[in-house]
This record gives sequence, structure tokens and C-alpha cells, in this order.
Amino acid sequence: MSTSAHQEFSAPQGVRRVVGALRGVPAEDGAGVKLTRIIGSPQLDMWDPFLLLDRFESDNPKDYIAGFPAHPHRGFETVTYLLAGRLRHKDSTGREGVIEPGGVQWMTAGRGIVHSEMPEQVEGRLSGFQLWLNLPATHKMTAPSYQEFDPDAIPLERRGEGVLIRVIAGQTSEGTRGPVEGVPTSPRYLDIELPPHGVFSEPVPADHAAFAYVIEGGVDVRAGRDVNDRRIAAGTLALLGGGDRIQLIGSEPRNRLLLVSALRLEEPVARSGPFVMNTRDEIMQAYSDYQAGRF
Ligand code: FE2
Repeated sequence: MSTSAHQEFSAPQGVRRVVGALRGVPAEDGAGVKLTRIIGSPQLDMWDPFLLLDRFESDNPKDYIAGFPAHPHRGFETVTYLLAGRLRHKDSTGREGVIEPGGVQWMTAGRGIVHSEMPEQVEGRLSGFQLWLNLPATHKMTAPSYQEFDPDAIPLERRGEGVLIRVIAGQTSEGTRGPVEGVPTSPRYLDIELPPHGVFSEPVPADHAAFAYVIEGGVDVRAGRDVNDRRIAAGTLALLGGGDRIQLIGSEPRNRLLLVSALRLEEPVARSGPFVMNTRDEIMQAYSDYQAGRF
């Protein structure tokens, strides 16, 4: 799927079509957290520059209570966005905090960090996403850093017909700018609510990869004048092909989705567990640096 999807980028102009749709596979990570792995799975290894997308959503504490105890990362960024519940994080730079619903933690692992993410609750619903965003070779060994924002720091853009856009990263064509800054792949990370028949239409740079994940309801991805629209149901990721505009239309009474885009790197990827580098040697170096306590 990814091969034909990438070929779609050879058509840089026009409205982006759906070139793949997938629901992900059940997976377990951390100390036994049950989640759905949508990118970074046997179905789709990556969607350059996106290395992994996990969806976690459960009302059952047994699915999440074990959390993600201390583990390392090198070479990319992890983005945790919560819809419900609370997660406490700690890391080897001494930072600690709690992510709240509607809040985001954008961690640049760079040359190395050890962190933990544990539920700050023993019951109730935990729901959210973790995205892994690759760093270009020039930035993989940068100093680790964090950007963390409470929900009230994330601007809400209102458009006609009741379209609501929470701008976590990047900027919209109407000038709303998210709080996350200084990311080399220039990502745009939006949480969008669409009323029935509500339209979201937005330019996107032709050299950026994009996906939409429907959280609730359904979304028609408008494919331009001569091509059929494609309806994407809740719980489905739509990979968007080449083009310089994205158009989405709400199809149910309530519709909510994530729309994420970022610059494609087109660099070699060597990955193993929590490390993502450009070569096998760099991966071996990551393991030996971690084992020697150099993170
Ligand atoms: Fe992690």
C-alpha cells in the first residue's frame, strides 16, 4: 500500500485523495497497555515522516493501569495527545508533569532521553494518541527537550457552519497558530470538529505527508471534481495522497478527527525498538550508549 501511496505524490497539485485506509492492529506496549497500532505495524511500517501512531481508548483500568515505565528513545519525537484521562510523565532531564484531556506533550528525544508515562488515575476512561515523528539526520543527535501545553494553551479556531479547529502545531490559512514551535518537519497537528455537511478546506504544502484519523462520526474526503469522494468511518486512518489542498466534509451528526501533516524526509530509516536512526551502525551505537548510561 505504501508504495502506490507514495507514487501519488508525483501529482503535486489538486485535492488530496485517500490512497489507503486502515484500522490498525491490536497491540500491547509498555508494561501491558492495550492499544491499537495504526502506523508502525505489519500493515503499514511508516508514513514518512510518521513512524508510529498508537490509539489508546479504554474504560477498563486493566487495559492501561500498567502504563509505560521508564524506557529510552533516540532519534525522533513522541507526541502524546489526550482526549480523556490523565497521564503523568517523568524523564531523565528532571522534567515531570501531568497531561490533561486536550493537552499535549511534544517530546524531542534527540540524542537520548529516558522517560515514563503512567496513568494518573486508577479508574475511568483513558483515551488519546501517541505519534512518533521522525527527525532529519541533521537533528537526530540534538539535545532532548520538551514542549508541554495544557488545553487552555491550545487555540480554537471557529469557522462558518460550526467547524471547530484546535491547533496544536502549525498554522492554519486563517492565521491561527499552535503553541508547539521549532520542529524541523514543520508539522501541522489539528483536532477538528465538523457538523453534518460542514466543510473543512485548507491548503497543504505538496511536499508534506498527511493523514486523517476519524475519532467520531464519519468524514467524506472530497477528492475533487472528477473523482468520487471517499467516506472514512470512526476508528479509521485515511492516508492522503499528493496534492496541495485537503477538503473534508462531516457526514454524521457529530464528527471529529485528527488531521496531521509534516514534511517528508525521504531519508534512510533504521529502527529498532525505541531507537530510530539512519543506519544500522547508529542503532548499535544507540544501544551501547544507553547501556553505558550515556543518555
Ligand atoms: Fe516513550
